[in-house]
Parts: sequence; structure tokens; C-alpha cells
Amino acid sequence: MIESIKRLVGTDKSQPRTREELIAKIRQSPLPEHVAIITDGNGRWAKKRGLPRTAGHAQGMKRVREIIRAADELGIKVLTFYSFSTENWKRPKDEVEYLMKLPSEFLKTDLQELIERNVKVQMLGEKSATPSYTQSALMEFEERTKHNTGLILNFAINYGSRDEILRAVRQMIEDVQNGHIDKDRIDEELMSSYLLTRGLPDPDLVIRTSGEIRVSNFLLWQLAYSELLFTDVLWPDFTQEHFFLAVEDYQRRSRRFGAV
Ligand code: IPE
Ligand code: IPE
Ligand code: MG
Repeated sequence: MIESIKRLVGTDKSQPRTREELIAKIRQSPLPEHVAIITDGNGRWAKKRGLPRTAGHAQGMKRVREIIRAADELGIKVLTFYSFSTENWKRPKDEVEYLMKLPSEFLKTDLQELIERNVKVQMLGEKSATPSYTQSALMEFEERTKHNTGLILNFAINYGSRDEILRAVRQMIEDVQNGHIDKDRIDEELMSSYLLTRGLPDPDLVIRTSGEIRVSNFLLWQLAYSELLFTDVLWPDFTQEHFFLAVEDYQRRSRRFGAV
């Protein structure tokens, strides 16, 4: 893990490769099906430059666009961004308001490209707690891309894994009580089907930027066997090359799932 952090921040200059060489090499090995990213460090990026935190979020949104393009180019099946947690409501009102306006900005600038790329946009998280302009932008993304068959792009907004698990448990209890499911048939597969990620593969690779080494209430059930990659790079500095190197790092790992 330490080695991969060094490589991602670019201290290993032994093997300079062009973008094309890197992509060609990645294509030779199996890809992660689902990559999930905790896009952290926007505030610190802005602070380092004497800018308001919102400037970091604006730059971060540009990186989201670039990484969607990179994932699509590689042929990744599912890409998930952790964009706003259930705990992020604790932030100053101005910052929350700015973040809640980003989906409608992104809709104006990027919906067309996502449609052209055949990307299907989905949300993880309780939309109804967000302002009406956020909800309508999120719903328009989902509605306008729902028949697309390419990259599945999830935005976790107002998402919290413990909240997701509690909702699943409550719903399951209700379904046992009303006879829809049998208590003795509750297994991992059934539990997964009650989560917001139902139908999606668990993340193979989870990337967290900004040097924090924690998961912050993200996909706690789903990342039981995910490969985790932590890098000091702040999200607004995270380029397509960093993304390709992260995928390459994943491809060098040996996943055992408890076996030998
Ligand atoms: C991630 O960047 C974006 C959100 C959580 C919305 P931060 O805003 O958490 O940036 P830092 O961690 O303060 O640098
Ligand atoms: C995690 O980042 C959530 C998102 C990236 C949306 P935070 O910045 O909220 O996490 P903590 O508070 O450092 O754990
Ligand atoms: Mg943060």
C-alpha cells in the first residue's frame, strides 16, 4: 500500500510511460468491475491556495468529469462516487448549499455527454432530504439515462452506510411480519438485495484521496472484500493518470477471499 501511495504521488520516476502505453498495459489484465471513490480533500486543496472551500468543490467536479471519461475509456462497468455523506449536513450552511447546487450545474454541463457515452446515472442515498432543485436534477439524470446500457455511474449523495443497513433491516422485518420472506431464508444474498446497491457487484477497488485512511460510513457491507487504495493526492489534483495507476495497482494484487 505504501508503495502504491509513493507511485501515485509520482516519486517513482523509474518507468515513465505514455498514457497510451499505460492503457494498453491495463487492457491486458482483468479490470475491476466496480470502482468506488471517496473523493476527499477538496477543502484542503482550496485552503492551500487561499481560496474558499467551495473553489475546491468546483475543481473537484471537474475531476469527477475526467474520471468518468477515463473509466468509460477503460471499459469499467460500475463507477461510484461518494459525493455527500449523511454526516456532511454538519458543515456550514453556505458550503452545504453550494454542494447541493452542484448536481444541477453538472446536469447543464454534462448530461448530454453522458447520454452520448451511453452512461446510466443512478443515485445512492435519500434524495427526499435534499433541496427541491437538487432532487429535480438528480431525478432528471436518472430519468434521461435510465435506458442506457454502458457504464453505470452512481453518485452517493446524502448516503450513509449505517443508515442504509438500518433501513434494510427495518424493511426486512416488515417483510417477515407480512409473510413476504421467511426469516430462515435471510442470507447474504437476500441482505444485499435490500441495500441501495442491489443488483450491482460489490466494489472491487475503493480509492480514497487526501491521505485519510478511513472509510467514513461508506458501503460498509459491500466493501467486505474490496481492495482499498489510499493516496495522499487531494481529489482536485487527482488526474486520469492517477486513476489508471490505481487500476494498475489493483491488477497486481492477489485477491484470496479467505482461501489460499
Ligand atoms: C470532499 O472534500 C468533498 C465532500 C466531503 C463533500 P472535503 O470537503 O471533505 O475536503 P477536506 O477533507 O475538508 O479537505
Ligand atoms: C467522506 O469525506 C465523505 C465524502 C467524500 C463525501 P469526509 O471529509 O466527510 O470524511 P471525514 O469527516 O474526514 O471522515
Ligand atoms: Mg474531507
